Amino acid sequence: MKIISVESLVRLLSHHGVDNFMKDLVGSLKRDFGRWQSFTKMPRPAMHVSGGVLELMPICDNELYYTFKYVNCHPRNPLIGKQTVVATGQLSAIDTGYPLMFSEMTILTALRTAATSALATDLMARKKSHTLAIIGTGTQSEFQVRGMQLVREIKEIRYFDIDAAAMDKFEKNIDDKDQKLVRCKNALEATKGADIITVCTASKAHVEVLKNDWIKSGMHINALGGDTVGKTELEQNILPRCKIVVEYFDQSYMEGEIQRLEKTEAEKLVYAELYELVSGRKKGRENDRQITLFDSVGIALEDYSVLRLTYELAEKYKIGEELNLTPVIKNPKDLFGSLMLEYSTP
Ligand SMILES: NC(=O)c1ccc[n+]([C@@H]2O[C@H](COP(=O)([O-])OP(=O)(O)OC[C@H]3O[C@@H](n4cnc5c(N)ncnc54)[C@H](O)[C@@H]3O)[C@@H](O)[C@H]2O)c1
Repeated sequence: MKIISVESLVRLLSHHGVDNFMKDLVGSLKRDFGRWQSFTKMPRPAMHVSGGVLELMPICDNELYYTFKYVNCHPRNPLIGKQTVVATGQLSAIDTGYPLMFSEMTILTALRTAATSALATDLMARKKSHTLAIIGTGTQSEFQVRGMQLVREIKEIRYFDIDAAAMDKFEKNIDDKDQKLVRCKNALEATKGADIITVCTASKAHVEVLKNDWIKSGMHINALGGDTVGKTELEQNILPRCKIVVEYFDQSYMEGEIQRLEKTEAEKLVYAELYELVSGRKKGRENDRQITLFDSVGIALEDYSVLRLTYELAEKYKIGEELNLTPVIKNPKDLFGSLMLEYSTP
């Protein structure tokens, strides 16, 4: 079984190139969202604990693989020097059920979330979107910028975080040669003149990081931080003004911005699931005046896409450590005997 540690993944990304990986991932996501009906899926089971949530994200296709990811979200973790979101994941063969790869998924989650935002933004934002607002310059923020740069010519990035140190870090990581960087005093200032607004803050509460008054005709919003029960980022009045696209209604209704609506209202307001735009069944943006909202929560299909791509590239570049996390025995019924053999060997 292949083990992809953080070190192995960093090696893989430097071999393949981060931008190439993101581009390939957008392609993989298109392919997998395009065959939506061929996946066995379920809203993720979540365990809410004091200060956070722990989630398991399983999915299976009818061709090759079953995958799952374990992920958390503990917004106060940075106060004790730990990340808000960390993850690990596994990819197994469906024909035998054998695990093929176990992987780090903290970096893979940031990459797949950015690639999914890129896919949605490409289908929903105005073609001439050049100004990007980022609210919340934590872990996900630079990945989100890279994703947006894949699909739009970003000339200006306006950004705000309540933590000045997070903005300092963001400036260090984002090249100001290619675009103008505008550090803002508050979220209102960051949204001024923005074509695309990406909100990726973390608080386990219903907060109003984005206010209705600030949202102007033609804007596209990627709302990432409203992604579990009791955790949203947008003033609710924004929702009825938007063409709303979610990843997977059954999960998004529990976890996304739309969780605060009555079910019938949510069903009425949600225009599409992302796969419907990807497959061309429904149009994304139809004119320059529409306000579009990608109410993202993150789904298992995105983890499947990134695990599959990682597995294929790891095989190609021969990266990753091979470890026996399942027994390798001659007689498949003699597990006990193999144990005895191991014990008897000094
Ligand atoms: N939709 C998805 O697929 C997906 C995937 C990964 C993470 N997320 C979510 O995205 C969010 C960000 O994740 P992260 O890993 O970057 O977390 P992080 O803790 O590293 O960064 C969050 C940042 O938001 C800032 N912040 C908090 N409240 C704010 C406010 N009111 N205004 C401005 N800034 C504020 C914090 O200071 C912090 O710098 C989390 O809520 C996480 O659950 C969603």
